Amino acid sequence: MRMVDIIEKKRDGLSLTPEEIRFVIKSYINDEIPDYQMSALLMSVYFQGMTPEETSVLTTAMAESGDQIDLSKIDGVKVDKHSTGGVGDTTTLILAPLVAAVGVPVAKMSGRGLGHTGGTIDKLEAVPGFHVEVSEQQFIDLVNKNKLAVVGQSGNLAPADKKLYSLRDVTATVNSIPLIASSIMSKKIAAGADAIVLDVKVGSGAFMKEMEGAQALASTMIAIGEQVGRKTAAVISDMNQPLGYAVGNALEVKEAIDTLKGCGPADLHELCLVLGSNMVVLAGKARNEIEARTMLEEAIANGKALEVFKTFLAAQGGDASVVDHPEKLPDSTFKVPVLSESDGFVEGIAADEIGTAAMLLGAGRATKDSVIDLSVGIVLHKKIGDEVKIDEPIATIHSNTEDVAVSARKIIQAYRFSNDQPPAVPLIKG
Ligand code: URA
Ligand code: CA
Repeated sequence: MRMVDIIEKKRDGLSLTPEEIRFVIKSYINDEIPDYQMSALLMSVYFQGMTPEETSVLTTAMAESGDQIDLSKIDGVKVDKHSTGGVGDTTTLILAPLVAAVGVPVAKMSGRGLGHTGGTIDKLEAVPGFHVEVSEQQFIDLVNKNKLAVVGQSGNLAPADKKLYSLRDVTATVNSIPLIASSIMSKKIAAGADAIVLDVKVGSGAFMKEMEGAQALASTMIAIGEQVGRKTAAVISDMNQPLGYAVGNALEVKEAIDTLKGCGPADLHELCLVLGSNMVVLAGKARNEIEARTMLEEAIANGKALEVFKTFLAAQGGDASVVDHPEKLPDSTFKVPVLSESDGFVEGIAADEIGTAAMLLGAGRATKDSVIDLSVGIVLHKKIGDEVKIDEPIATIHSNTEDVAVSARKIIQAYRFSNDQPPAVPLIKG
C-alpha cells in the first residue's frame, strides 16, 4: 500500500477501506509515514469528510494504538463523561461524587493537559495531600469500595491521537467533525468505559459555534459509540459564557463543593443534574431521566454526595476537612476587582478570552512544562442578562502578582453589553 495513493483517493472524495485506514495509523505511529504526507491526508479529510464507517474504523485503530484499560474487575456499568471543552468547566468534580452517591461506579482516568486551567487532577491537587499515584489494584479496590477513584492517565493511551492532534494543531485541521469525534472517542474507548455521556459545547467559546455543527458532532460520536458496543448519549450545552462563576483550580474546587452542598451557581448545578441523569440511566440505576434526576437531587439534599466526596478525598490522601473549611484551599495574595467601563446588560462573555486571562495569571499551562499556580484565577460577578453600571465590579482577579493589567483588559474586552435586557439563553440546547 502506498500513502500517496491513499491521499489521492481521499482528495478526490472517495472512501478509504478499513485496511487503508489501519495501514495509515499503524505506519504513522511507527514513523513510516512522514508528517507532510499525513498533513495532506488530514487536509483532504478536512475538505472531503469521512463516512460513518470510515470514522469508526479510524477511532478503533487509534484506540488500539496503545494501552487499553480493563475495568472488568469493577462491579457494575462503568460510565465515563467527556466535555468537548469549556471554560471554568468544573462538572467532573461534582458529577463524579454525585453519581457515585447513587451507586454508579466512577473509575476516572484524567489528564493534566494544556489550557486555561489545569485538568481535573490539577484541580484535585489543590486539596492538601491529595494524590493520584495509586496502583491498578488499589484503583479497582477503591472504586469497588467507595464507587469513586481518580487516577492519572496512562502516558500510552491512544498515542496515535496524541501524535495526530499535535499535527492537526499546526496544520489548521483541528476543526473537522470526523477528526474531533474520533480523537475524543478513541481515548474514551481505550480508557475502558462501558458507557459514555458526552457534553458537546456550542457557542462562542466552543469548537462548534453553531447548533448544526454541534448536532453533527454529537451524532457522529454517538454512532461511533454504538458501532463499538459502548452505550453513548450526548447533551448539547451552551458555551456563550463560562460555566459557573469561578475559573481557576482551587477556586473551581470551592465552586464544586458549594454545588455539592446545593448552593452552587444555577447553570453549573443544572448541567450536572442533566449530565448526571444521563449517566445514571446508562448505568441502569434508573428507568428514565426524571427518576434519575430525583435520585441526584436527593443525594445533594441529604448530604450523601458531599459525604462520598469527603471519603474519596481522604482515600487518596487528601485533607477532607477542606469541604467544611474551604479557607484551607490555596489562596492568592491579591484580590483585584475589575470595574466595568460600560453601562448596560451583559449580552455575552467570550469564554475563551476569560480562559486566556486566567492562564496568564498562572491558572493554566501555556506549554506542557509550565507550572500551575493552584491559587489564582478569576471569579465573575456578572453573567448574561445581568445589569451592570459603570465602575461596578464585573469580576475579581485572584493573583499572586500585583500587576494584573493584561488580564484585567482581557476580561473587560470579553464582556459584550447591550442597552436592553437580552433574551435568556437556554443552557441545555439539545
Ligand atoms: N478534544 C479532543 O480530545 N480532540 C479533538 O480533536 C478536539 C477536542
Ligand atoms: Ca466554573
